[in-house]
Amino acid sequence: MTILVTGGAGFIGSNFVLDWLAQSDETVVNLDALTYAGNLRNLESLAGDARHVFVHGDITDRALVDRLLAAHRPRAVVHFAAESHVDRSILGPGAFIRTNVEGTFTLLEAARAHWGALDGDAKAGFRFLHVSTDEVYGSLAPDAPAFTETHAYEPNSPYSASKAASDHLVRAWHHTYGLPVLTTNCSNNYGPYHFPEKLIPLMIVNALAGKPLPVYGDGLQIRDWLYVGDHCSAIRTVLAKGRVGETYNVGGWNEKPNIEIVHTICALLDEMRPDPAGPYARLITHVKDRPGHDRRYAIDARKIERELGWRPAETFETGIRRTVRWVLDHEVWVREVQSGAYRDWVAANYAAQGRA
Ligand code: NAD
Ligand code: DAU
Repeated sequence: MTILVTGGAGFIGSNFVLDWLAQSDETVVNLDALTYAGNLRNLESLAGDARHVFVHGDITDRALVDRLLAAHRPRAVVHFAAESHVDRSILGPGAFIRTNVEGTFTLLEAARAHWGALDGDAKAGFRFLHVSTDEVYGSLAPDAPAFTETHAYEPNSPYSASKAASDHLVRAWHHTYGLPVLTTNCSNNYGPYHFPEKLIPLMIVNALAGKPLPVYGDGLQIRDWLYVGDHCSAIRTVLAKGRVGETYNVGGWNEKPNIEIVHTICALLDEMRPDPAGPYARLITHVKDRPGHDRRYAIDARKIERELGWRPAETFETGIRRTVRWVLDHEVWVREVQSGAYRDWVAANYAAQGRA
């Protein structure tokens, strides 16, 4: 058996591929365009493992997706590939429309053609799992209940609007064509291989470099943090047991204001790598806010627990400690990601392995 994963060289996708192959012998075909966010270093431990087939390509390339589906006949598509950073979407929304909307459309059409030609158990068992975000629901008032799966869609950034559009396409392909889809809407992830443009890894690497820790606005915006390993287990659970056509909210029951996150990181670094110049919190700097900044996200994850028995294993306290430790132990990874040197490694790796 085989699954096709898109975006499996990114933060969550690479954690998912590693996690999947640690628990299963089912081959993963990993289609990734290796944008700035894709990094084959994350998958280095799979070098020479025949269960991982990496394909350098774009999800908007219909002919390529058709070829992969025909050649590998996956039982499922697990779709992570996306432009994922809100700040980048504000500076340049075009890539978000192309990958998140057109890319998802391309995959849906290719999957529909592939699934339509299947029969028997293969047809009944096929799944298209779309990995989405809580940001599609917009911003919550301080005392409002957490997002459930029936909360209205109110996306506020070009990123969240593009993800909302992709969710709607997935829904429509099920209702109109019967494509057996599943959608997950997850809160903020953190953990190993997190690209240091996002809050948590950025704060860790900036602190270690003695650089300012840029907190947007008053820093009282709230996010609901989930350790990436828990997101991976939720996706595996939904793929295995989710009801076709349903959406499942995934979250960590960990609402925290940004400024508290930054102070927690500073305190952990003070303990694990004390700076002779003084406590890391001295580097905290409030900067101009993000335009249209959503004030609060919170996920009500009771449906996935009630129906599928999933709950996060990690608390924020254990997960953030593991994450800070991981960054301290992976200085080379961080340096290469920041310098872009990993691209040279990728080129060499392609040449060595004769891949497209
Ligand atoms: P990421 O930016 O780290 O990785 C995205 C991956 O997709 C990269 O490997 C990139 O090379 C690849 N990619 C981008 N455009 C592509 C294209 N056109 N064709 C093929 N590959 C392409 O993202 P992430 O944080 O790992 O997020 C993965 C998914 O999970 C996204 O769909 C995102 O919306 C969703 N999500 C993320 C979070 C989070 O906190 N990071 C939370 C909830 C949902
Ligand atoms: O909620 C899920 C979403 O979480 C995912 O869909 C997105 O792909 C992912 O990037 C993330 O979006 P956010 O915008 O919440 O994540 P980010 O790490 O960019 O920011 C987290 C919070 O921290 C947010 O309120 C903005 C703030 N922030 C961020 C950065 C990068 C700062 O205060 N300073 C910063 O330098």
